[in-house]
Amino acid sequence: MLSARGFVLWFTGLPGSGKTTLAEIVAKVIRERGMPVEILDGDEIRTNLSKGLGFSREDRDSNIRRIGYVARLLARNGVCAITAAISPYRETRDEIRRSVYAEGRADFVEVYLECSLTALIERDVKGLYRKALAGEIKNFTGISDPYEPPVSPEAAIRTDTEKPGASAARIVTLLESLRLIPASSESDHESRRTREVAALVQDISRTQAGG
Ligand SMILES: Nc1ncnc2c1ncn2[C@@H]1O[C@H](COP(=O)(O)OP(=O)(O)OP(=O)(O)O)[C@@H](O)[C@H]1O
Ligand SMILES: [Mg+2]
Repeated sequence: MLSARGFVLWFTGLPGSGKTTLAEIVAKVIRERGMPVEILDGDEIRTNLSKGLGFSREDRDSNIRRIGYVARLLARNGVCAITAAISPYRETRDEIRRSVYAEGRADFVEVYLECSLTALIERDVKGLYRKALAGEIKNFTGISDPYEPPVSPEAAIRTDTEKPGASAARIVTLLESLRLIPASSESDHESRRTREVAALVQDISRTQAGG
């Protein structure tokens, strides 16, 4: 039996590694399987919850701790909280993992999106690598600011060698195998059972009406 536990799905990776893209695809799949989902995207959080914070280590950590805090509140209430922020510092990510586990009411799944710098520069979705390489942006993660990859994430996914759909499918399979989301066959099974029960109820009421 699948538990109704929520969890934090924590994406981490360099700018342009695919956090937003995969968060959106995976959220859609999970929602279709009947579980509540919320995405906490770094870009959006910086326009409200973390408005005014910059890109020093201290400000980056504050931003990540705020995201972690909200994710934890959501997850402990049965929500799948997906975070899509660079979250460059290992210790800060680990601190959030510990805080989620300490409560014992939710799980934490860290997914590292790995992508070569060459591919990221070629991709340059927001045109920021070009600016960072030209020295126009200071403290740009991966170019002029540190990024510490996780040591033992639940999954490390290369986003420079496969399409977004394939990477998302890997993540969905991982969540299924951890029994954090219902498998698609399981939900089919559930709906079949629901139909069966509905048919039984109809039969019974027909018999009662006839008798
Ligand atoms: N396997 C993959 N997974 C995710 N994205 C991929 C993959 N292959 C190619 N891409 C492309 O890489 C880009 C990733 O951009 P996205 O905005 O999702 O990155 P991000 O990690 O959210 O960046 P940022 O930190 O700047 O917000 C998209 O254009 C996406 O289509
Ligand atoms: Mg993004």
